[in-house]
Amino acid sequence: MSSAIDKANQAVNKLAQLVNKQYYPHFHLAPQSGWMNDPNGLIYFKGQYHAFYQHHPYDENWGPMHWGHAVSDDLVTWRRLPIAIAPDQEFDKSGCFSGSAVDNDGELCLFYTGHVWLSGQGDDEQISQTQCLASSQDGIHFEKHGTVLAPKVGIMHFRDPKVWQQDGQWWMVVGQRTPDNVGEVLLYRSGDLTNWTFDHVVVSHIDPNVYMLECPDFFPLGDKWVLMFSPQGMQAKGYQYRNLFQSGYIVGNWQPGERFSIIKPFQEMDFGHDFYAPQSFLAADGRRIVFAWMDMWESTMPSKKDKWVGAFTLPRELFLDKDNYVRNRPIKELEALREKPESLSNILLKNELKNTDIQSISCEINVEFDLIQSDAERFGLQLAATEDGKQATLLYVDLQSERIILDRSLSGLELTGYRSVPLPKTDKLTLHIFVDASSVEVFVNDDLYSLTSRIYPQLPAKRVINLFAENGKAKVTKLESWQLQPIYA
Ligand code: FRU
Repeated sequence: MSSAIDKANQAVNKLAQLVNKQYYPHFHLAPQSGWMNDPNGLIYFKGQYHAFYQHHPYDENWGPMHWGHAVSDDLVTWRRLPIAIAPDQEFDKSGCFSGSAVDNDGELCLFYTGHVWLSGQGDDEQISQTQCLASSQDGIHFEKHGTVLAPKVGIMHFRDPKVWQQDGQWWMVVGQRTPDNVGEVLLYRSGDLTNWTFDHVVVSHIDPNVYMLECPDFFPLGDKWVLMFSPQGMQAKGYQYRNLFQSGYIVGNWQPGERFSIIKPFQEMDFGHDFYAPQSFLAADGRRIVFAWMDMWESTMPSKKDKWVGAFTLPRELFLDKDNYVRNRPIKELEALREKPESLSNILLKNELKNTDIQSISCEINVEFDLIQSDAERFGLQLAATEDGKQATLLYVDLQSERIILDRSLSGLELTGYRSVPLPKTDKLTLHIFVDASSVEVFVNDDLYSLTSRIYPQLPAKRVINLFAENGKAKVTKLESWQLQPIYA
């Protein structure tokens, strides 16, 4: 193991002694200590799922990027492994940025961006970014092979390679920022993983303000191809694009030798505050699964004072619906975490707040409302609520705006603001909700919309689920809940 990796492993273990777990997730992947951002190198390899992630093991702030590493047999419970790669070479000396993994005949190959600050840390105008290769036989110890792809002259921002194999060739998409500040995704192909030939620009100019497309991913779903990426520069428009950066997708047709032809222009993938840099991979049985970073650049991260930052979302299966929208829902394996089931049915809320006594620190809730019999101005749930309901994350139907709102104004530490999606025009509304120590994930009518946001509830630590209806009535036809077990072996 390189001495840079040894040092980094020692640092993360030392820092772990200072970690305060009050906001630490029970059932989401997070770093042992220090900083985490994007999911990287997600792959099923030799019978196990590997998840790597952007990681700074030395402290709770973003810094020279390493790749943290964990493995799982079931995609639900995880075991930590030593850090996989550290920035210790000329071509990656300022950071091993995001990338992906492929299985090359039993060899685990990682593609990542070697990042170098050319004129001082943080000067984004003077950088070198190239795509680099590292490989491993055992999936734990990696050997670096250097740069395999450099950008065209004049391009600085060129990163986040996603590689796959198809029709006897290797393919790679990479994001770039042109000298006139246009975000693009480029496609390359290769016969041997080291020599890459430019194929075509998959997308460019998706929006006049977008200057960079981070973390591209290109894969078949249903009978179409999906280009998923994280654009920077989009301006908020009404209820859309409210976060600093977005994550979403374009749907179209593609096959080797052809250009990508777009059917559906850019759509957001999740509608909460904290969902960025999603990466997909294939499960052993062929399902297309995605993890995202459950945070947003430059947002307040109160767990910094607890010496850790960052988590993955739950693993979610992707589907293409008949109108060519990409939907996501939690994978079914997560049901293995359930314990202490409780269920309630036929509750008529009449202008009231109802305490359910369901513990809400690490729980899953499936609730169904009868929209025909509900006329309250606002009705829904208080998540991670104090028993008096004075502190809570609100998830409710607003019948006036006909939207479902996830509101963090009373959630706790330092976070504010709400996000929302349209109220579906169905007779029944189901909300499938996962509440962890510092996050909420909501799936509307199974997989029509998802909303993912971080929350940081303050003391008192006891938190429950409450139901409410304001100025009118609301009918809950059923409510099932489970406590969820921790995911670390
Ligand atoms: C996305 C990103 C990537 C980059 C990495 C650096 O969140 O900015 O484009 O490779 O994070 O940590």
